Amino acid sequence: MNKEIKSVILAAGKGTRMKSNTSKVLHKIFGKSVLGYVLDSSKNIVSESFVIVGHHAEEVTAFVEKNYQNAKTVLQSPQLGTGHAVSMACPYLENFDGQVIILNGDLPLMTEDSIRKFIEYHNSKNSDLTIMSTILDDPANYGRIIREKDDSLKCIVEAKDASPEEISVKEINVGVYLLNWGKIKSAFSQLTTNNAQGEYYLTDIISWGKKNNLNVHAYILENSDESYGINSRKDLAYATKIMNERKLNSLMDNGVTIVDPSSTWISEDTEIGADTIIYPSTYIEGKNKIGKNCKIGPCAHLRGDVEIDDGCKIGNFVEVKKSKIGHNTNAGHLSYIGDSELGSHINIGAGTITANYDPISKTKSKTILKDNVKIGSNTVLVAPVEIGEGTNIGAGSVITKNIGEWALGITRAPLRIIENWVKNR
Ligand code: UD1
Ligand code: CA
Repeated sequence: MNKEIKSVILAAGKGTRMKSNTSKVLHKIFGKSVLGYVLDSSKNIVSESFVIVGHHAEEVTAFVEKNYQNAKTVLQSPQLGTGHAVSMACPYLENFDGQVIILNGDLPLMTEDSIRKFIEYHNSKNSDLTIMSTILDDPANYGRIIREKDDSLKCIVEAKDASPEEISVKEINVGVYLLNWGKIKSAFSQLTTNNAQGEYYLTDIISWGKKNNLNVHAYILENSDESYGINSRKDLAYATKIMNERKLNSLMDNGVTIVDPSSTWISEDTEIGADTIIYPSTYIEGKNKIGKNCKIGPCAHLRGDVEIDDGCKIGNFVEVKKSKIGHNTNAGHLSYIGDSELGSHINIGAGTITANYDPISKTKSKTILKDNVKIGSNTVLVAPVEIGEGTNIGAGSVITKNIGEWALGITRAPLRIIENWVKNR
């Protein structure tokens, strides 16, 4: 057997309880889909992934093709259960002689670290087939881990098939499996549908392995939060909360001040430098990089693809999207900065808007502000537009043309004063 690992990710299911017109695995947490988290947690470990698609196959395939070069989608139609789903990948793995990790596509909280420990455990036990389990106070609908008298793994029983004694077990099947492929692959042509749901259960490979004298193990995941599967909107909200807490704790451990963790939301893919302060009610989604000594919020909204250099201030009700901001630049109040490139030492007055979207051509354009530009309050910068170094823009202007360096740009109706107007009315 060689050391290569490939993955099979199960994402063909309907997700009935989401009550949605979108695939369950494309629902988003902080702007990234549930399936995106699963693919990311394993992408540094595997050489290739097979994503099994079925319900909303076109959407899921488009997502995978756009974002993951080393992943292929494989259609499962009809969807006859998790075991049937894996068998769809068998033709692609016929001559593969490494390990296959199978992941349920609805596990956004699983970390790369836990997957690595799981693989180490499998190898240290010389296991042929290892499943990941965890202990839950409320094991709900999860498959139950049934052990032999000597504590070794016996089988997995789905909640719907369980006896009263089995249903009381609190150790559950997380939905992550590691297989020495050459030894297990023939199981997938031998599964049956002899169960309460009339489906081919992936979980039956444990009993199959035992029958065929293979070495099977269960690895107990310590942090059971990571096993949380998304089946409903409530699950989605809960997973977002757990992911956020995890992120805020790690930021605080690394020197970022979070004034009020209970009202602050920051995506996993956001990096923040030390001594930056995040004020309450700030929401940060997508992938972003924020430097050191910045002040963000209160009530700031960063929407992804945002890079903010050291010493910047992004104040209240400022929204930033797909923009680069140089060091010591401030946007203190009530502004929108989108598709922009801002230099350093810029001041953006209150109420400034980059008008980046043309609703007729449906295209977006760029705003470029060079170093030391000062934008007066209530300015609209109609993109595409570029303002040269040091130029000032008068308050209330609508800027529709490029302006060079060290100039003043101003578009403003002249002020009229009509004396005694109020008295004479
Ligand atoms: C499954 C496990 C259960 C485990 C739980 C963990 C089985 C039989 N049971 O149950 O032991 O505790 O996950 O969350 O595997 N899918 C397909 N094709 C299908 C059916 C499902 O691709 O034909 C995908 C789904 O999209 C989903 C994953 O497989 O991502 C799991 O399916 P789901 O229906 O959620 O399984 P559970 O009943 O939760
Ligand atoms: Ca599930």
